[in-house]
Amino acid sequence: MEVRLSNMTAAKAIGDAVRTSLGPKGMDKMIQTAQGEVVITNDGATILKHMAVLHPAAKMLVDLSAAQDIEAGDGTTSVVVLAGSLLGAAEKMLAKGMHPTLIAESFLKASQKVVEYLTDISTPVDLKDNASLLRAASTSLNSKIVSQYSTILAPIAVSAVTRLLTPTSSNVDLRDIRIVKKVGGTIEDTELIEGVLLNQNVIGSAGGPTRMEKAKIGLIQFQLSAPKPDMDNQIVVNDYRQMDKILKEEREYLITMCKKIKKTGCNVLLIQKSILRDAVNDLSLLFLSKLKILVVKDVERDEISFLSSSLGCKPIADIEAFTEDKLGYADLVDETERSGARVVQITGVKNPGRTVSILCLGANSLILEESERSLHDALCVVRCLVKKRALIAGGGAPEIHVSRLLSQHARTLKGMEAYCFQAFADALEVIPTTLAENAGLNPIAIVTELRNRHALGERNAGINVRKGLVSNILEEDVVQPLLVSTSAVELATETVALLLKVDDYHVTR
Ligand SMILES: Nc1ncnc2c1ncn2[C@@H]1O[C@H](COP(=O)(O)OP(=O)(O)OP(=O)(O)O)[C@@H](O)[C@H]1O
Ligand SMILES: [Mg+2]
Repeated sequence: MEVRLSNMTAAKAIGDAVRTSLGPKGMDKMIQTAQGEVVITNDGATILKHMAVLHPAAKMLVDLSAAQDIEAGDGTTSVVVLAGSLLGAAEKMLAKGMHPTLIAESFLKASQKVVEYLTDISTPVDLKDNASLLRAASTSLNSKIVSQYSTILAPIAVSAVTRLLTPTSSNVDLRDIRIVKKVGGTIEDTELIEGVLLNQNVIGSAGGPTRMEKAKIGLIQFQLSAPKPDMDNQIVVNDYRQMDKILKEEREYLITMCKKIKKTGCNVLLIQKSILRDAVNDLSLLFLSKLKILVVKDVERDEISFLSSSLGCKPIADIEAFTEDKLGYADLVDETERSGARVVQITGVKNPGRTVSILCLGANSLILEESERSLHDALCVVRCLVKKRALIAGGGAPEIHVSRLLSQHARTLKGMEAYCFQAFADALEVIPTTLAENAGLNPIAIVTELRNRHALGERNAGINVRKGLVSNILEEDVVQPLLVSTSAVELATETVALLLKVDDYHVTR
């Protein structure tokens, strides 16, 4: 019992920590990491990811938020707030002597009912209906720090995802959307780019080209530097002629490699980062620049598949395997300057894969990072609509609606289960209550009015945060994907049920 209560208290504390950041008028958090970096964010999953949570039960709520982030991408604050509220309800029932298993089972049943009710009030959306997609993307951006740029970011998110759609697709892989962050300009300069963008810059130090028309692109995973022995050896050279010979050999070795590359017609070289030795050294850069090959280094290992699928080239692991058929072709590789940031853009790819690049600009890295996270949320919202093509209203309207139906349903049940369903229904009201609180409104008055208006049949009455009153929330264009809400309810209930069933705690050595 002790363990259960302490678990619940710890987990509830996490819910309270993010509560104030829910909704468009929610607060932001400033986080300082152990390395001294500062992060300013409104995103629930990001806040919790950075918090140094020690209690194992509290960690479950952090994982809950991460799970929502993976499943839906948005609603990562709501899910934790909801779980906190359900835990509070469960705590009260435990105090009255109800059995935890019974509470857990009833909660799971209630959550299934909630999903049913939510699905009933959802409206189907067509992926060709751009306006609806835009409304959903803007709603998710409205509760972010970068909300004043939602008119710019929302269309970018919508067209990025819709470009990847095929008539049969039921999901979109967000790894095919690359967001390149550069400090410079303002968020307003953020744009969807034709072709492929690189995170890296062109190496210009050796005087090589920075622009290449009719590019033949090679993506290599081997190093253009002198080989190193497997073990740490020392060679003592005490003769100048010997030394010359070693240097000459190194030159020969590099020259042969560079020439071999040139011979295939390759004129743009992307080099993967290496941890064993320098991926490319000054000498080989010099040779490459003389051979008029444009060089980009420090390509990350996890970028390889994105690059090879978008440029139509194959990664090459060894110089012996460097052949022409592995090269990709593009009309132009060019390093340009946009709002003070240098970016490499590859356009006119011959066999383009289905990928999209977005250039995200911002005045400093703090705002840039948050802009990227918000854009990610908006992309996820559109992806949710691809997965499950239905929208519901926002602003607390669905929670109140469902809470009413659930409590009506509870009256038809008997015994303890009826009690649990009623408690679940009450716990759902935490979302509108918190939205009202964060907007500086009187939560009791607002929620009471909401309940009344819903009882009178106004299904879409929600909290109009901007005007500070209750109104038809659909007229305000506040809509969210059904999947965000259903997955929040399901995941939160599962976590609460799991916590309820734990009654002891051991540490192993
Ligand atoms: N303009 C608005 N008016 C009223 N309510 C809104 C408005 N925009 C969003 N909301 C509501 O705010 C809530 C979402 O808030 P927020 O985006 O801060 O948290 P989240 O989506 O749960 O988590 P996160 O975005 O951090 O992953 C939803 O309940 C949504 O209906
Ligand atoms: Mg959100």
